[in-house]
Amino acid sequence: MFTERTFYPSCSNLFSLAVEELRARGADLIDLTESNPTRCGITEGNAELLALFQNSRILRYEPDSRGMLVAREAVARHCFLDTDGKVSPERLFLFSGTSEAYAHLFRLICGAGEAVLLPAPSYPLFDELCRYCDVVPMYYTLTYDGSWFINMESVERGLLAGAKAIVLIHPGNPSGAFIKMTERAELNRLADQYAVPLIVDEVFHAYPLENTKNCSGSFVMNTNRLTFTLGGLSKLCGLPQLKLAWLAVSGTETKWVDEAIYRLDNVADLFLSVGTPIQCVLPDICVSVLPIRQEAIRRRTQENYRVLQKLLSADSPVTYLHTEGGWSVILRLPQVRSCEEWALLLAREAGVLVQPGYFFDIAEPSRVVVSLLVEPQRFAEGIVTSYSNF
Ligand SMILES: Cc1ncc(COP(=O)(O)O)c(C=O)c1O
Repeated sequence: MFTERTFYPSCSNLFSLAVEELRARGADLIDLTESNPTRCGITEGNAELLALFQNSRILRYEPDSRGMLVAREAVARHCFLDTDGKVSPERLFLFSGTSEAYAHLFRLICGAGEAVLLPAPSYPLFDELCRYCDVVPMYYTLTYDGSWFINMESVERGLLAGAKAIVLIHPGNPSGAFIKMTERAELNRLADQYAVPLIVDEVFHAYPLENTKNCSGSFVMNTNRLTFTLGGLSKLCGLPQLKLAWLAVSGTETKWVDEAIYRLDNVADLFLSVGTPIQCVLPDICVSVLPIRQEAIRRRTQENYRVLQKLLSADSPVTYLHTEGGWSVILRLPQVRSCEEWALLLAREAGVLVQPGYFFDIAEPSRVVVSLLVEPQRFAEGIVTSYSNF
């Protein structure tokens, strides 16, 4: 009766089952996987946020396929770093989340059975999203050698095989790698040569951690023929429950930009997915909530990253992979067990939860991922406790 596109393999795995069992037994767990910012004790800006919704403007409905102009103006002015007000609200679309924006873009660009090029490792959503959109996921590889590098050969291989778009995550999740300036030039060259757009997910762009000297800025003013840049409140100020994301269309060839906007208008008009209340209060959120929360999250991720650097020296059995930005870090554990075996052992023996690297398609064995959003004392305790189990 139902279609293949909505059938996904079960989400349970050895690790999730073990955690369920430990929780059912009432085990006291230090959860280093927590990446929901509303569950990490980040309360800065909460009072200001609540006050903003006492607003009679939210009672009127004036739909606009791209999202209300006041909201798009606020995004253009406050949500892209270092753009000096050059982003035009006319080239912005609002959606309820980046997943929705991805889905519209995949269907805008690909026919059924066509492919998009995605990074590996990256966060685990794309296979299902692609299947839902009848699109084939093709992967290019990121390689770690003191820093993460895009394997350009694998990008070109995908393009030669017919991929219709290149997806970049800037900075990556969980790699934390920003696109380097040299990589950006090469990606623009390849995108032009193969006449494909870039889709750039910048949800973590506001969260640098270290060594961002050679990293590219936002792609929102990119000079490629067509670039779609994604962001959202979910990460920009750690408020996923507000359900507001955006997509900026940019490019040097107006023909392509105009055509993309015309078609996205058609699609967005079918859904009108963003609620009026959040759009009405967005300008105020940008002024009185966003800076406070962003600063609080930055302080949190940077503090936890410093703790990690202090606790894990280069010659310890556990090391961390350098991460330039974002909310997570990859740890390298001794290569005597798989990542899943390590995650199970740490959960059962140390009561510390980490995510096995295979969740993110990390090819190397014995890599696990921890969240930098965790409350700092718990974070340090979790790292020390797991460390003492080696
Ligand atoms: C790189 C990246 N993009 C997008 C998302 C989803 O963001 P949203 O809440 O806007 O759908 C995530 C979620 O973790 C993510 O890691």
